[in-house]
Amino acid sequence: MVPGRDEREDELPEVEPVPDDDHEGNEPVLGRHERYRGKFPIEVRGLCNSFGEQVIHQDLDLTVRRGEIIGVVGGSGTGKSVLMRSVIGLQLPSAGRIDVFGRSITTGDPDDVVGVRNRWGVLFQGGALFSTLTVGENVEVPLKKFYPELSDELTHEIARYKIKLSGLPEDAVAKYPSELSGGMKKRAGLARALALDPELLFLDEPTAGLDPIGAAAFDRLTRELQRTLGLTVFLITHDLDTLHEICDRVAVLADHKVIAVDTVPRLMELDHPWIQEYFNGPRGRAALTAQALDELKKHMDMPIAASAVKALDKRTSKGA
Ligand SMILES: Nc1ncnc2c1ncn2[C@@H]1O[C@H](COP(=O)(O)OP(=O)(O)OP(=O)(O)O)[C@@H](O)[C@H]1O
Ligand SMILES: [Mg+2]
Repeated sequence: MVPGRDEREDELPEVEPVPDDDHEGNEPVLGRHERYRGKFPIEVRGLCNSFGEQVIHQDLDLTVRRGEIIGVVGGSGTGKSVLMRSVIGLQLPSAGRIDVFGRSITTGDPDDVVGVRNRWGVLFQGGALFSTLTVGENVEVPLKKFYPELSDELTHEIARYKIKLSGLPEDAVAKYPSELSGGMKKRAGLARALALDPELLFLDEPTAGLDPIGAAAFDRLTRELQRTLGLTVFLITHDLDTLHEICDRVAVLADHKVIAVDTVPRLMELDHPWIQEYFNGPRGRAALTAQALDELKKHMDMPIAASAVKALDKRTSKGA
């Protein structure tokens, strides 16, 4: 089950408190092998983004907790990818402040992001693999950039390990992106995102275009990696199954801002037309039924669960 807000806060390891009055300035640069110990790896305040006349974000706030998988949803074009690009410093906002690992990345001063950029990994919406490089070489790109002192042999070895960790067969190392299926490309992108042992992982629509089985496998992999590697995951998705299955909380983008951040069940109680249509529409209900079915199947030895599974199975096969 996806833990609720309070349970997750209990799960958070002891953290050194960040004094509020220290927040105007940057926190000290983290040592290269030191992990971030603050509570909130991402804090966005009053973010504004526009392209010409088109306003994308207006006074957007969002706080991401360490160790959570936060889903980001919103209609197409609401600015989910632009938000992600702002957080990783690829899009300088017109106003607002973004702190990542306690350091402002919106001042435009490259010194401010020292020791921060190599702590995150990104899987872009389109995959963004270099088409002229093999999968192995793609994964080596960030390694060579941030750790040029590593020997070639060690760099190859780390890349091979990340490729395996992402669930690709060993022979994928030497393949070019054009030789991979859509699902394999996503996994190759994930391997590259994991190259630097990130603490923060950004995934933009990782299951889009995958068949339901491939999408469910990718979800399980994301959850497993988040748990075993202690990652915080910023996950943009339209996939209702993903939201139900693996997200601890979900942030909803609408009206140029984040209008709500909560667990899916609590979001479903909110009286907002987009939220109601999205989560309580036919697809939302089907995803919920499928999740209930999965939960019940774990208890098939109990007669009450077995009969409920039969009833739900009938509903889902009719497309409820
Ligand atoms: N570099 C850019 N220049 C001009 N407009 C842009 C740029 N990048 C994004 N936009 C516009 O900003 C809006 C938000 O784009 P964004 O890619 O963030 O949407 P999204 O919420 O990720 O949508 P989708 O769910 O379809 O991926 C869109 O209208 C898009 O056309
Ligand atoms: Mg997008």
